[in-house]
Amino acid sequence: MENNIVAAGYDAVFAEPGNSPTLRDLWRRHASGLDFPDGFDHISFVTISQLRVMAEELRLAPGRVLVDVGCGMAGPALWVARETGAGLIGVDLSSVAVAQANARAGRLGLQDRARFTNGSFAQTGLTAASADGVMSEDALQYAPDKRAAFSEFARILRPGGRLVFAAFELEPERVAGLPVLGDDPVADYRPLMQEAGFTVDACDEVPGWLDALTAAYAAVLEAGNALTAEMGAAATAALLGEITLTLQIRPYRRRVLAIATRN
Ligand SMILES: C[S@@+](CC[C@H](N)C(=O)[O-])C[C@H]1O[C@@H](n2cnc3c(N)ncnc32)[C@H](O)[C@@H]1O
Repeated sequence: MENNIVAAGYDAVFAEPGNSPTLRDLWRRHASGLDFPDGFDHISFVTISQLRVMAEELRLAPGRVLVDVGCGMAGPALWVARETGAGLIGVDLSSVAVAQANARAGRLGLQDRARFTNGSFAQTGLTAASADGVMSEDALQYAPDKRAAFSEFARILRPGGRLVFAAFELEPERVAGLPVLGDDPVADYRPLMQEAGFTVDACDEVPGWLDALTAAYAAVLEAGNALTAEMGAAATAALLGEITLTLQIRPYRRRVLAIATRN
């Protein structure tokens, strides 16, 4: 049920004409940074310096397999695949995101080593021990069962494989009873990673995350009319609904960048 709500919201956001120039511009100014590489835009808070750290910590090489879960249109993952020469499998709940990611891989000339598929954090549909690296950017907070997500990461990674993700940890008392964020509000991902069979190498708060989130969300809210004209009412409502709720209830404790190794 929760998954359906999330998939429907993101299907609307990623649908044509979901690529709103206003949203893209605001996001570059307040979230991803003006220096984020052209053609790899995304809707997370990953900056190019964070993505460089993620790429390095994934320790990939040509012929290795990277999986991105909650990939969206896969800008960050395609950038990592291009920089490292690794193959990429992107997994997302939204079938519109999967179609957009496939189209983008084609535009970037990466279609021979990048593919995208419908799936969830708990069920990627991928073969056991088939991945050398797993990444995820600002999506894990939506997983309705975080333990299941970490066990799925552990299942698809080979021993010694690397898990590198950015995600929000939640404030359980603030999200109690809410759909999606309230389903399994985890305040600290570290014990769950350890239980699932990972050695946690780092799980550090990203400096300035709250300022970036507040500035980006305030700018998007202000641009509501332009967004409705460019993206349509359904996508704008999905986006502004989540933003308004986030600014009101402040559901996030920290945004972390986590690095772990499969035992
Ligand atoms: C904020 S977007 C980030 C997308 C992408 N990582 C990026 O950098 O643009 C969150 C993504 O998580 C996906 N998502 C949400 N819940 C999911 C779940 N349970 N399993 C897989 N993907 C999910 C959404 O469809 C959406 O694409």
